[in-house]
Amino acid sequence: MIAHLFNAPLGETETAVGVGTVGSSEAIMLAGLAFKRKWQNKRRAEGKPFDKPNIVTGANVQVCWEKFARYFEVELKEVKLREGYYVMDPEQAVEMVDENTICVAAILGSTLNGEFEDVKLLNDLLVLKNKETGLDVPIHVDAASGGFIAPFIYPELEWDFRLPQVKSINVSGHKYGLVYAGIGWVVWRNKEDLPDELIFHINYLGADQPTFTLNFSKGSSQVIAQYYQLIRLGHEGYRNVMENCRENMIVLREGLEKTGRFSIVSKDEGIPLVAFSLKDNSSHTEFEISEMLRRYGWIVPAYTMPANAEHITVLRVVIREDFSRTLAERLVMDIEKVMHELDELPSRVIHKISLGEVKSEDNGDNMVVTVKKSDIEKPIEINVKKSDKPIFC
Ligand SMILES: Cc1ncc(COP(=O)(O)O)c(C=O)c1O
Repeated sequence: MIAHLFNAPLGETETAVGVGTVGSSEAIMLAGLAFKRKWQNKRRAEGKPFDKPNIVTGANVQVCWEKFARYFEVELKEVKLREGYYVMDPEQAVEMVDENTICVAAILGSTLNGEFEDVKLLNDLLVLKNKETGLDVPIHVDAASGGFIAPFIYPELEWDFRLPQVKSINVSGHKYGLVYAGIGWVVWRNKEDLPDELIFHINYLGADQPTFTLNFSKGSSQVIAQYYQLIRLGHEGYRNVMENCRENMIVLREGLEKTGRFSIVSKDEGIPLVAFSLKDNSSHTEFEISEMLRRYGWIVPAYTMPANAEHITVLRVVIREDFSRTLAERLVMDIEKVMHELDELPSRVIHKISLGEVKSEDNGDNMVVTVKKSDIEKPIEINVKKSDKPIFC
């Protein structure tokens, strides 16, 4: 059912295969291993070195990709972000591809701002590069969240097995698959995309059982729950849930825009979430908002973007099935209250400087912070009282 949802070729000659996992992290480890082994086998057969595999991703990838790279000894080549562009740039990604690249990983729904990466453009550029160089670099789509959103509300968007270079896709059942935590899925386009030697066959449970997972035993309740949800809700039911999430996302986004205090960093097409930053002229920080919202019962994380956009901080609210319109309106009201409270407080932001080298020196009751930047002649020296609890961002 899931392979079908991702438009996998399910015919006589090509038949998708897949496994259930604990979540997208395990699914990604397995997909990464399959790419690594396939690349190694090809290189070995060609008599070429196969000891320096690499993988190309955006700097915005979820930590599981860094885990995969470190645990399974694959170099992670990250396309850096920039202010205003928080996903992997397909052109830069394809430029980074070389003969040691086992795959390019694209995300359908960046964890940080929900934005869909342009898998179609990546596919087209990679097809060209493969043609020019004789390489055959594949694509994996990390659709942890988007895999249960795009098929229902953006059916025209080409991101899945409709694109020839996409060889495997993962999705979390416990995100928009609407199941409790502990279920993920990975699907390969073809049996040939999953090297046979990674699959173990055991028979001690009474019949031949092929297994390709990191853990062996696992509860079946999540698999049954996923099956139940798919049968119970059907295509139409999932579409209604996702449309509803999107509508509530718009209510929240518009409410935040109306306050005039925030810039929206998420996109309309993507995961139904709102990622937002304070406007430049603000004398407070996103971390203070996050901290104060806890008093109203909200846990809204504030975090900095990865390289090279570390100077941008965002707050993020993910809209799930049970986040109603009433809750969205209440959250806007509570954020407004927090903003009024913050306006009454002295600013803890002493200086806003982007991308500089910062050094601090303890000086009794005071702290001296020196900031050096390549585009200013003299370093800026800021003397602050420690009792003011200054925040540097
Ligand atoms: C894009 C992306 N990939 C992978 C993961 C890891 O998923 P899981 O928590 O199911 O292991 C996440 C989780 O936040 C994610 O957002």
